[in-house]
Amino acid sequence: MAQYKVAVIRGDGIGVEVIEEGIKVLEALSEQFDISWQFEEHPWSSEYYIKNGQMMPSDGLDILAKADVIYLGAVGHVDIQDHVTLSGLLLPIRRSFDQYVCERPSVLYPGITSPLSGKKPGDIDMVVVRENTEGEYADVGGFQYAGFDEEIGVQSGIFTRRGCERVIKHAFELARRRDKDRHVTSVTKSNALGYGMLVWDRAFDRIAGNYPDIETQSLLVDAACMDFIRKPEVFDIVVASNLFGDILTDIGAIITGSMGLASSANLDPQRRYPSMFEPVHGSAPDIMGKGVANPMAQILTGAMMARHFGENAAADDIEKSVQGLLVQGEILTPDLGGSSSTESVGDAVVRSLGN
Ligand SMILES: NC(=O)c1ccc[n+]([C@@H]2O[C@H](COP(=O)([O-])OP(=O)(O)OC[C@H]3O[C@@H](n4cnc5c(N)ncnc54)[C@H](O)[C@@H]3O)[C@@H](O)[C@H]2O)c1
Repeated sequence: MAQYKVAVIRGDGIGVEVIEEGIKVLEALSEQFDISWQFEEHPWSSEYYIKNGQMMPSDGLDILAKADVIYLGAVGHVDIQDHVTLSGLLLPIRRSFDQYVCERPSVLYPGITSPLSGKKPGDIDMVVVRENTEGEYADVGGFQYAGFDEEIGVQSGIFTRRGCERVIKHAFELARRRDKDRHVTSVTKSNALGYGMLVWDRAFDRIAGNYPDIETQSLLVDAACMDFIRKPEVFDIVVASNLFGDILTDIGAIITGSMGLASSANLDPQRRYPSMFEPVHGSAPDIMGKGVANPMAQILTGAMMARHFGENAAADDIEKSVQGLLVQGEILTPDLGGSSSTESVGDAVVRSLGN
């Protein structure tokens, strides 16, 4: 029996609600696929911060390092500034475990109506590969005269040749593995950001030279946003910096139906450290505690985690079960036009496994 040690961080808001369903689905697969999930819970969250003054204990990263993977809900609390929750938990995990690739699929599934007119299921089927450890989210900057009228904030972006090349190479490898259109789009802004983004562009050109079988294009981020809406069908693999990838994947989520369907994986492709699996969405304070959050993004993120372990049949089963429910259209949460609860969607996914 395969054994996987999974560190679980439920986090805040709907993160706590949807991860319950994600775990339920993974556990339901255990017997059929001979998998033993060893879930280890960590109560690190905004509540933990309010009690302890930090998002996780000082040895939190050492504790997580012993796990095979991390399965996370979401963090974010209305009473705490977002940079505190992000910089106290998510960003240190992504950086310390060198999770330099964030893979985020955007797929328009059968049964889902896109807000874009005329788009049919299958028309949108892309993966955004987001650089995840440096770029605009590098922890480099500072204040001068903080709190005074003269206040200055300096925020630096870090683009290293090594950092750009390795994530771009991953995007090309994924284009080959996926074997869909064998096409990679680079998202840049080197017309205005003439230093870091030039390092990015040069890295893209160098890596592209090693993949003559893959077609490429380079788009300015503003044009990429426009084309995500105007003609999303042209995209196969999109590779983007930390900030651009973050923004584009919210567009990718909403044109394929809902934030509640968008899965995501933070990967150390070299597998030296645990990778982290968390949906694209946040803690959604506007719907927390109502039992209406869509758990499908978290459940599909569980499928990405199973695939990371090579449990492809288990991952296929989860994806098929979710897609079956979407086509049926009867047991859906309000974001997809239904009236079912988070829990009943999780239960329905479990019931459909193996069919
Ligand atoms: N990875 C993370 O933990 C993460 C990611 C994004 C935002 N955040 C944090 O989450 C908090 C809220 O941020 P936000 O409102 O900008 O983004 P959000 O993703 O939490 O919510 C955006 C919108 O999408 C809806 N939504 C999100 N997930 C849904 C789901 N599963 N089912 C149905 N509807 C869903 C919400 O109700 C809201 O209207 C902030 O504190 C932010 O910093 C955390």
